[in-house]
Amino acid sequence: GGDGGDGDDNQIVAGTAPGFRPFEMNEDGELVGFDVDHLEAVVDETDYELTSWEEFEFDTLIQALNNGNIDVIAAAMTINDERREQIAFTDPYYSADQSVLVQTGGGFQPSDLDDLAGRTVGAQSGTTGEGIIEDEVEDPDYRSYENYVYAVEELEQGRIEAIVIDQPVAESFEANREVEIAFTFETGEEYGLGVRQDADDLREALNEGIAAVQESGEYEEITRKWFDE
Ligand code: ARG
Repeated sequence: GGDGGDGDDNQIVAGTAPGFRPFEMNEDGELVGFDVDHLEAVVDETDYELTSWEEFEFDTLIQALNNGNIDVIAAAMTINDERREQIAFTDPYYSADQSVLVQTGGGFQPSDLDDLAGRTVGAQSGTTGEGIIEDEVEDPDYRSYENYVYAVEELEQGRIEAIVIDQPVAESFEANREVEIAFTFETGEEYGLGVRQDADDLREALNEGIAAVQESGEYEEITRKWFDE
């Protein structure tokens, strides 16, 4: 963290919340994913140096940033006004919608959010998926999880009936677990990197890095690596 004075002003620490394939996950004890490659490529385009990655539960990332434990959030975090009251975002780097996951062969086949009324529905704490359940599902029996991986385990066991989750991650769970996408609905969410509200220099540098990585073709390469396997 750049707390003023001398040489380490340009060193930054990144924070993320793994368990969100293909954006961030632990593989053989190593943190990998789209966000890891993307942020590293973006920072490479700047005068900053990324010294380490720290892992948190998703709903503690904003606090970790504002405490100074980390300097940038790279966690498939959707840019929205509620979060903008606490942190600043870079330009968007990825667009996503939301999907509803159900147990494969479980018999429950909802086709819209109305069909989730009164059902047992899960999401990761602090996510936009959680917000949708709270705001758009009538009288849900809402179950909050620290991590979507735990929610998917509960869904596989039939202990909950549905999960609301970002569509690219839903596709990954569908490919790897006993769950399937019932339907996808448009939210037009855009992911941004999160920085402290007073970190104007860092935010501007990251914006230039995001643009450079897109123009160089590196963005496309990273996308191909994590989405076409
Ligand atoms: N895009 C959603 C949001 O911003 C979910 C992000 C969850 N990210 C994670 N690394 N678990 O709320």
